[in-house]
Amino acid sequence: MLAAREHWGSRFGFIMATAGSAIGLGNIWRFPYMAGENGGSAFILIYLAVVVTFGISLVMAEMVLGRVTQRNPVGAFRALGGRGWALAGGLGVLTGFVILSFYVVVAGWTLAYMVFMAGNQLPTADPAVLGGHFSGFVGRTFSPLFAATIFMGLTAWIVAGGVGKGIERASKVLMPLLFVLLLVLVARSVTLPGADPGLAFLLTPDFSRVTIDTIISATAQAFFSLSIGMGVMITYGSYLPRNVNIPRSTLIIVLLDVGVAVLAALMVLPAVFAVGLDPSAGPGLTFITLPAVFASMPFGNLFGTLFFALLAIAALTSAVSILEPMIAWAVDEHGIGRGAATLAASLVCLLLAIPASLSFGPLSDATLAGKTFFDWMDFLANNVMLPLGGLLVASFVGWRWAKPACTHLTNDGTLRLPWLTAWIWLLRVGAPVAIVALVWQAVSTS
Ligand code: PHE
Repeated sequence: MLAAREHWGSRFGFIMATAGSAIGLGNIWRFPYMAGENGGSAFILIYLAVVVTFGISLVMAEMVLGRVTQRNPVGAFRALGGRGWALAGGLGVLTGFVILSFYVVVAGWTLAYMVFMAGNQLPTADPAVLGGHFSGFVGRTFSPLFAATIFMGLTAWIVAGGVGKGIERASKVLMPLLFVLLLVLVARSVTLPGADPGLAFLLTPDFSRVTIDTIISATAQAFFSLSIGMGVMITYGSYLPRNVNIPRSTLIIVLLDVGVAVLAALMVLPAVFAVGLDPSAGPGLTFITLPAVFASMPFGNLFGTLFFALLAIAALTSAVSILEPMIAWAVDEHGIGRGAATLAASLVCLLLAIPASLSFGPLSDATLAGKTFFDWMDFLANNVMLPLGGLLVASFVGWRWAKPACTHLTNDGTLRLPWLTAWIWLLRVGAPVAIVALVWQAVSTS
């Protein structure tokens, strides 16, 4: 006998938790530097186009799968498609381990940088010194792992609290806090003297820098950012009561996710231009370039501490959502208690985080085909496993389960959705074509 499934306490709580999943390091750490490297607003426009077409379609498809079955990804696919399709859910659960292995490492850095900023340990605007500090810190053996362990502990503590008392309660506090912090920092950044070139960079699209690679990175970014392809949306959808309007909730969540990504770019890039740094500094943009920006503004320590707190909060609600599908699977399918399941899964993730963290230090030369363990986990998750997961959801809902999906999405015909046919064809053809191109390109150029 299955115990009654827990549900979200309110629509607001559900939206905060789900937006919390979507809004993460992907929006605040990755998006600004990707936009910086890929021609600013041209990249942003392509990303928006992918989000409103494939992105929204896949989020709705996953949520419907979860709500109908009231199960974790494995159970959901098994209930509707049988044993073979259950493997698609299994891939999702596995992807969670792969993502968390590197996600907690970067999230640990944000915690450490919060402490460095608060303690005024980065009082220089010289990017070379800051670069040395960054590679020195991440290259150490124990401190980054210690930070990752604290982060994993916080994540596990929230997840162990359960859906309502853990995830929903934490999200209802952390997400509004995140929005406030973000607005404060954007206001600071765009009013810095010399911010205009940064704003211009963001507002005038430079399509000459757009290549097929730009389109592909924008697509991968859209998937990662919306938490599509590993069953997070299936799992969070499975805690939904029947009567929720999925299309409307999806729209709100996607708008919040996109809004935060664009605001993060507005927060980071004008500041980078204001102090004359290079916007295409890549992954180091947040950890090297931004401390230089903070060092050269009044009350920089305060703003710097707030910025890394913002990053840590965003990462925390996302990490919670990456852990939850594994827990839901262990609880639903194997009757394991939530606490025990959380502890076991977190320990496995931490074990995987060890080589990921050491990839920047003692294991930096231990590469396979030129990639460290960290690079491999990142590459596999973003460029192979998440897209593949998205492909399986799209094909399943589009080809095998289209009629019931439409019935459920419209709440048994009570919602009038004129775009249902477009939704199904995006899932049938549009998303698979885009995904196959993405994976093919990623694998052939890596
Ligand atoms: N969407 C999260 C981010 O932008 C990452 C994530 C990926 C979360 C996949 C859940 C599942 O950081």
